Amino acid sequence: MSKRILITEPIIPSVIDKLEKRYQVDLGERGTYNDEQALVNDIRAYDALLPMLSNPITGKVIAAGENLDIIANHAVGYNNIDLEAAQKHDVAIANTPGVLTDSCAEFTIGLMLAVSRRLFEAQQYLLNGKFNDWEPLGFLGKELNGSTLGIIGMGRIGTGVARRAKALGMKVTYHNRNKVDPDLEQELDAQYCSTVQELASQSDIITLHCPLTDETHHLINEEILSLMPNDAILINTSRGPVVDEESLARALHNGSIGGAALDVFENEPELHPKLKTAPSCIRTPHIASASFQTREAIGMLAADAIIGILEGQPTSEIPNLIQP
Ligand code: GLV
Repeated sequence: MSKRILITEPIIPSVIDKLEKRYQVDLGERGTYNDEQALVNDIRAYDALLPMLSNPITGKVIAAGENLDIIANHAVGYNNIDLEAAQKHDVAIANTPGVLTDSCAEFTIGLMLAVSRRLFEAQQYLLNGKFNDWEPLGFLGKELNGSTLGIIGMGRIGTGVARRAKALGMKVTYHNRNKVDPDLEQELDAQYCSTVQELASQSDIITLHCPLTDETHHLINEEILSLMPNDAILINTSRGPVVDEESLARALHNGSIGGAALDVFENEPELHPKLKTAPSCIRTPHIASASFQTREAIGMLAADAIIGILEGQPTSEIPNLIQP
């Protein structure tokens, strides 16, 4: 009998077609499996799961998946999955590294430009009928050229942002658990900051590209925000809980930093009420990887890992397994 796959919600059709050529595929409806109990109820029937980042793949879900051989997350992040439980139940875990780099790096640069040149405020002003004549002092922003970018997390996406920032004339500094390769540092003209404090006090824009771990939870807190210059901008396309939103909202409301752009939130999909009303703040619904090309590549990588595991390919040959 053909193996059964659950894709928890509609994704790019070519990916579904690829899996349907080999297996019996069920497709969840949008949002149904954001609920742990819904997963627990249905998981038993499946050999492989292709879940979204919004699906809580807890120990309870994994324990209920008696036939489950692999969980291939439709994301590079995997903070929605209980890795320990997966190991205990001998379920392989895959993610989708590499293929989001360009879409996320481009999106980050777009957010930097949008905040620093006040795009959405300016559009609103125009739509509100206030643009009556050209204003020499209207909507003055800051240029990226010549400003200092502080990157926290210099993995693939952080490096992609650094390359683009350098091309725009920005000076690149970064903080990471370890210094990057000296050749890369030289290529990017990047300066290492050994502490987040040092990086915060000297950056015009800080952008976050670190994973969410115990160490990075609330990494951007009241202390770090207070070290940032008054016109500095914070960009977050990593994970919401890396930023203490209460402190960020306060800093935006009292003008102790210049602005922010947030694609991810602490209690996603909830938006902190004080962030809803914060000035100079752009808020987007977790779309940094949302280009057609990237979402298709994400799906294909996840599908390939599923096919590899279900067809008995040696795990060492499946490049995107986090845990065999
Ligand atoms: C998106 O946030 C991802 O981890 O793929």
